[in-house]
Amino acid sequence: MRNLNVKYLGSKDWTLRAVDFEANRGELVIIMGPSGCGKTTLFRVLAGLIPSLLPGTVEGQAVVEGIDVVSSGYKGLAGVVGLVYQNPEMQVVTRSVLEELAMGPENLGLPREEIRARIDWVVDMLNLHDFLGRDPQTLSGGEKQLVAIASVLTSKPKVLLLDEPTSMLDHRGTRLVLDAIAELKKEGLTVIVAEHRVEWAAEVADRVVVMGRGTILLEGKPEEVFSRVEDIQRYGVRPPGVAEVAYELRKRGVNVPIPVKMSDSWVLLGERG
Ligand SMILES: Nc1ncnc2c1ncn2[C@@H]1O[C@H](COP(=O)(O)OP(=O)(O)OP(=O)(O)O)[C@@H](O)[C@H]1O
Ligand SMILES: [Mg+2]
Repeated sequence: MRNLNVKYLGSKDWTLRAVDFEANRGELVIIMGPSGCGKTTLFRVLAGLIPSLLPGTVEGQAVVEGIDVVSSGYKGLAGVVGLVYQNPEMQVVTRSVLEELAMGPENLGLPREEIRARIDWVVDMLNLHDFLGRDPQTLSGGEKQLVAIASVLTSKPKVLLLDEPTSMLDHRGTRLVLDAIAELKKEGLTVIVAEHRVEWAAEVADRVVVMGRGTILLEGKPEEVFSRVEDIQRYGVRPPGVAEVAYELRKRGVNVPIPVKMSDSWVLLGERG
């Protein structure tokens, strides 16, 4: 995205302002920021939903895999960009989970065997065996969220956008989704996730983006972003626990470096033991 500005029809203010954002192929980028800062709006632009589906004004440039997403719209992005909505109710539309999973690849015109293989792949990865025959409307919120993620994955988009994918999941569901994200990254997908789980972000992200009031405030490797404890607290993002502890120690005159990953927290012991 280059100098991207977005305004919804009927709003007087710009929702996104001068956003410059880049993700390299195969990167896992995690977007954080308080409610209303514009994470979902950024995803809607990348998925070609504004203004194609949601009326509004988009100024500046947004390109994914060489496609201008604003002029192509969501119809031109099938198989390229996959968005898992924040609210799975918006996404689950058919009468059976199996149909839901088949819909994307069917629309892409793929052969039956390929569709079957993709369904088997996501069903195994997200442990959906027991859901296949169910009517999605009878699933719990968390179960719907898993099915919504699975139904986007069967299209094997090059760029996967996940808008708070674990917000409704229990511990087990969260683990499944977070592990699946790490797996998809290994398969070469570009994954952009809005997610509040900082400890997880610190471990797996290639890049962390902190947004506030429609613009990007901080961006960098997790260790660059999360070690700026004071800044990110001010921006309404909770730093990882180990970074917070180190920061408090430093305020008390103990000169330790600021780790952001649990696996690096040994530095807090340092030479003092
Ligand atoms: N369809 C819409 N029409 C008008 N304004 C909207 C629309 N959708 C979102 N907004 C406004 O745009 C701003 C950014 O909203 P957005 O949903 O992108 O934030 P968010 O960071 O995803 O928040 P959350 O963490 O709560 O999901 C908010 O002020 C919101 O009220
Ligand atoms: Mg949102």
